[in-house]
Amino acid sequence: MTLATIMNAIVLTGHGGMDKLEYRTNYPVPTPGDTDVLIKVGACGMNNTDVNTRSGWYSKGVTEATTGDGYDTVDSDDPSWGGAPISFPRIQGADVCGEIVAVGSDVDSSLIGERVITDGWLRDWNDPMNKDKTGYFGSERDGGYAQYTVTDYRNAGIIHSELTDAELATFSCSYTTAEGMLARANVNADDVVLVTGASGGVGSALVQLAKRRGAKVVGMASDEKHESVLALGADAMLPRSPNNLSSALKQCIGQSTVTVVADIVGGKAFSAIIDVLSRGGRYTCSGAIAGPIVDLDLRTLYLRDLTFTGSTVLPPSIFKDIISYIERGEIKPVLSATYPLEKFHEAQAAFIEKKHTGNIVVTP
Ligand SMILES: NC(=O)c1ccc[n+]([C@@H]2O[C@H](COP(=O)([O-])OP(=O)(O)OC[C@H]3O[C@@H](n4cnc5c(N)ncnc54)[C@H](OP(=O)(O)O)[C@@H]3O)[C@@H](O)[C@H]2O)c1
Repeated sequence: MTLATIMNAIVLTGHGGMDKLEYRTNYPVPTPGDTDVLIKVGACGMNNTDVNTRSGWYSKGVTEATTGDGYDTVDSDDPSWGGAPISFPRIQGADVCGEIVAVGSDVDSSLIGERVITDGWLRDWNDPMNKDKTGYFGSERDGGYAQYTVTDYRNAGIIHSELTDAELATFSCSYTTAEGMLARANVNADDVVLVTGASGGVGSALVQLAKRRGAKVVGMASDEKHESVLALGADAMLPRSPNNLSSALKQCIGQSTVTVVADIVGGKAFSAIIDVLSRGGRYTCSGAIAGPIVDLDLRTLYLRDLTFTGSTVLPPSIFKDIISYIERGEIKPVLSATYPLEKFHEAQAAFIEKKHTGNIVVTP
């Protein structure tokens, strides 16, 4: 097969607003390195990390909620998730589903033709558990908002599924993140888990994956999305910020505390969700879409014997676990919309507006 040499791609030219994302129709198709595979992209899921990297929200200079606009206070030394500068031009997009069409010189050519989804965690494969030697697909190297992309063959997970490419592109980032949070908090069938932002990509993953572990799940989300989150298995739903969280919990599940809070929202609601943790409870966090700076009463942390865990860089086993859950039908995709790649600005505007449940995907 003759491979194309130029392709369509969404190219990020620097930190800032949506105007930093340019649609190009003559971008070079990447060449796989020795241990890489070249993937023909079928679909690529959207994630907040794209928005955060573009806008520079990860910088300590930014203290506000994620808005999707550029920020004036971004520090040029720490604008990425890893706390270091990234280089431009950059193709973002972590959640690829596609087909391997070529391989590097050290990769078994029998992989050509396999259908894969991508694991976003780029590793030093001689030291794969070392979190200091990681990068993210679409941040430290080009990702999937294009017709073709390359990644190490160990980041391309073969998948056998009846789901469409767009459906499969909803899983990788959100579901591995959610499973990592639940693993860090040792969630099991005895737990009652409160999930913030339960209508979002990570939130809907947390609901399904906590239910898979046998836990009882209470979600928090905007009222108009409650029905769709209940359909994913949540036992009860609460508003984004109830006036009195403990009495709202008592009313809906018969108890005013939970054993685990799985939080990706942070912001003003933080103290209220910490206050409903039972003695010995666990708080696990992977995001702060409503604001990274929160009020913590240290007496609550130590007098109630709480455990706090953050979760970002994941062990490689979690990606493999997620593939097995998809193949066994234990988790289902929550695909709210698909946009063509050339309508990327429209797609990201809808993603930021957050009227949807689950995820939005682009197809090249
Ligand atoms: N650490 C990691 O590796 C990692 C990986 C993935 C994501 N994340 C982070 O996790 C966060 C969520 O990601 P996601 O992909 O799940 O996002 P998402 O799909 O955009 O969903 C976030 C949800 O949070 C709720 N929300 C949004 N703004 C809010 C606000 N100001 N106050 C209260 N609730 C708000 C919305 O629900 P309602 O409209 O229903 O209230 C929305 O559905 C982001 O900050 C993202 O960067 C981190």
